[in-house]
Parts: sequence; structure tokens; C-alpha cells
Amino acid sequence: MDMITIQGGMQLNGEVATSGAKNAALPILFSALLAEGQHEFTNVPKLRDIYSTKELLESLNCEVKFENNTFKVNVKRPEKLQAHYDYVRKMRASILCLGPLLSKYHEAEVSLPGGCAIGTRPINIHLDSLKEMGAQIEVKAGYVHAKAPGGLKGARILFEVATVGGTENIMMAAVFAQGETVIENAAKEPEIVDMANYLIKMGAKIEGAGTSIIRVQGVNELKPATHDIIPDRIEAGTLLIAGAITGGDVTVTRCVPDHLEALILKLRESGFKIETSDSSIRVLPQSVWKGVDITTTPHPGFATDLQAQFMALMVEAEGTSVITESVFENRFMHVQELVRLNADITPKTRVAVVRGKKGGLLAAPVMATDLRASACLILAGLVAQGETKVKRIYHLDRGYENLELKLASLGAKVQRLKEE
Ligand code: UD1
Repeated sequence: MDMITIQGGMQLNGEVATSGAKNAALPILFSALLAEGQHEFTNVPKLRDIYSTKELLESLNCEVKFENNTFKVNVKRPEKLQAHYDYVRKMRASILCLGPLLSKYHEAEVSLPGGCAIGTRPINIHLDSLKEMGAQIEVKAGYVHAKAPGGLKGARILFEVATVGGTENIMMAAVFAQGETVIENAAKEPEIVDMANYLIKMGAKIEGAGTSIIRVQGVNELKPATHDIIPDRIEAGTLLIAGAITGGDVTVTRCVPDHLEALILKLRESGFKIETSDSSIRVLPQSVWKGVDITTTPHPGFATDLQAQFMALMVEAEGTSVITESVFENRFMHVQELVRLNADITPKTRVAVVRGKKGGLLAAPVMATDLRASACLILAGLVAQGETKVKRIYHLDRGYENLELKLASLGAKVQRLKEE
């Protein structure tokens, strides 16, 4: 197992480019199942979750070539319309093959994803919405068995919460449904817009992606297409915070500043000077910054996937910051590890009070508990006095392409080693 060691105290400076968005690539790769034939995707990040997706697609009879960030997939009719537990347990997003398989082949069997470190993460909204579209759904022996004899039917669906994966699954399910499907209280994340753009390229009729009401008119056929995946806003935000926390001058290129408005606003409120262009964001050197409060909410609010990283920044701020996690019920696993690095944080169920102190972090061995928590600990390690060892770094490899190399290119002393 790998770990990452960071020698604290180096100021980061320079330019660094963002990779393609994991959370856009995953649903888009699954949406390829809707059209048999050759699809090609560029700017696909080399990540463990993408390799898990490749394996799952291969188990569904697809031929995949993944080289140099280009993912070519030849989709053929699956022999068995099943996403086995072996794949789903490695990656929750595997549930995203339910919508396309059921839509195209009127039948699918997908293993139930388990809970995960950040909460129970139910899929009730995915399943209830498919039922409203006429699917017969049975959950038994750890699998969702879904059938829609004669095909799915368009429906008016109101989501109880704006779920990202639910919006993607139902959009994919709706492309071949008879008539119109309307999703109300849809999630508005940029990754949903990217997936809708790909579906439209294939011939789907979709309006409103990126707003809370999405309308899909069913069509009879889709054709394969090519697509360049959008930049990863969470990676861009993480790199920006890396510059900020070290008091450096860092420009993150190949990103979309509009996707990071909430973070930019909070960085400015905290005292950082931020410059943006069409495709880059620069944080200017700042030696002292103040604690600010954040509440995570669905897009365009402050992203839950940047909460842990922002907390690391607040640990080094002057003053108190109240961090409220409103999206997931258990997303403060990084707090105990930050405390091991001498941070002063009181966590309650969904609220953490961070009493910031510049220069207070001291290196220690810590353990990554989930993907974004790993990034948070690496950011804290950049400023902790001494050498921080972040163990169980496999979580990081699910979602960040070469993060340690990117940080090293900016001047960080960071290394990947085998855990002793
Ligand atoms: C996606 C992202 C993840 C991000 C999250 C929220 C991917 C692959 N992952 O996850 O990185 O943190 O959005 O921005 O894109 N919920 C229900 N019932 C459901 C579905 C969801 O109650 O059927 C709840 C969840 O428990 C959670 C909230 O809705 O509290 C949001 O979850 P959701 O938007 O579905 O997250 P994911 O799509 O799993």
C-alpha cells in the first residue's frame, strides 16, 4: 500500500493544469451504453474509478482502449444485463449503469452499492423515479432487479433532494422513454450539463440541464459520438487551496472559473486576492487570512467535495470558522486526523467549529479515510512543521490524477512511498 510524505513549510508557486473531471467522465462513460458502436472520449483522467468503470463496461461486453487520457469504447449488446457486486463494491457510481441498461434493453440487474465512509448514501430516489416511469423494481439478495416490459414511459418526477447521481440516472433512463420526462428539483452540477451535452450529441432531446427543471423527450435511437470531458472543478479548487495555504502565487490553468464561484467568493472573503481569466484562476500570495463560515449545499453552492480541503485552510486562518456540512451526514472523518496534526476543531454532527491559528500545525502520521479527506490531509501537511505521513492513500488515487506530481511541480516536497 502506498503512502505520501510531505515536508511542511515549502511555499508553492507557478502554474498547474487541471485534469478532466472524474464526476463528469463516470456518468458519460456509462451513457455510452445507450448506443452500440464506437465512442471516443478525450481528457479522461487516469484514476482508479475510471479503471473500475472500464472493467465494468468490459463485463458488459464492451471493448475498451484507454491510453493517454483517451477512452475508446466499442459498445456491443451485453450477454448478461448485470452489474456484478464485484464491480459495484469498488465504486458506488456503478449504479449509473442502471438507467441506460433499463432504458435500452428494458431490463437490468445491478448490485446495491453499500454505504461508504461519508454516509449511508441511499438510492431510493433513483428507484422510486424509475418506478414512476413504469419500471418494476425488486430488491433481493443484494441486487436491484429492474424490468420495463415494452419500455419506460415518460413521467413528471419531483426529487425530494437534488441528487446528482439520481438526475444522471433518470436523464439516461428518459432518453428512450415514450413521451416526455420532466425532472423537477434536478441537480444543477456542471457534470450534469456535460453529460446532457454528450447525450444531445448522440441524438437525445434534452432541455434545461444545469437548471432545476430538465425536460427529456424520448427518441427511438442514439448514435455513438465523441466528446472532450470538462475540467475537474474539485481538483482545480484543491490546487488553488494548496497555493493559498502555503501563501504562494499559484495559477490553476485549464479550468472553468464559473464552476468554482462559491469557493472563489469564500477565498476572497477570507482575505485572498483571486484573479480569473476564461480558463484559469490565480491566487496571490497572502501571509494572513481570516476564518470564514461555510455551508455546503448542492451546486452552485459551496461543494461538499471541497469542504475538507477548505477546513485545512481554515485551521491556518486567524479566528474562528463554522463549517456546516448539509449534503452528507458523516463527512467530518478528516477532523480527528487534523486534530492529530494539532488543529483545534470541535466537531458536532453536521457542524465543526475550527479555531484557526497560523503556524499551529505539527507533522504526524495520519490516515486518509476517504477521497477528499486524503486531499485535506495533504494540504495540511504542506504547512505542518516537520514530515507528515498520509497513509491509506489509495483513496486519493480514486479521484486525483498525479496530485503529488502536480504539487511537486509547484515546489512542494512530497513523495509517494510504499508503506512500511
Ligand atoms: C455525487 C458525486 C460526489 C458528490 C455528491 C454531492 C459523483 C460520482 N459523485 O455523488 O462526489 O459529493 O454528488 O455533490 O458524481 N440521496 C438520497 N437518496 C438518493 C440519492 C441521494 O437521499 O436516492 C441523498 C444522499 O444521501 C446525499 C444527497 O442526497 O445526502 C446528495 O447525494 P447525491 O447528489 O446523490 O450524491 P452522489 O450522486 O452519490
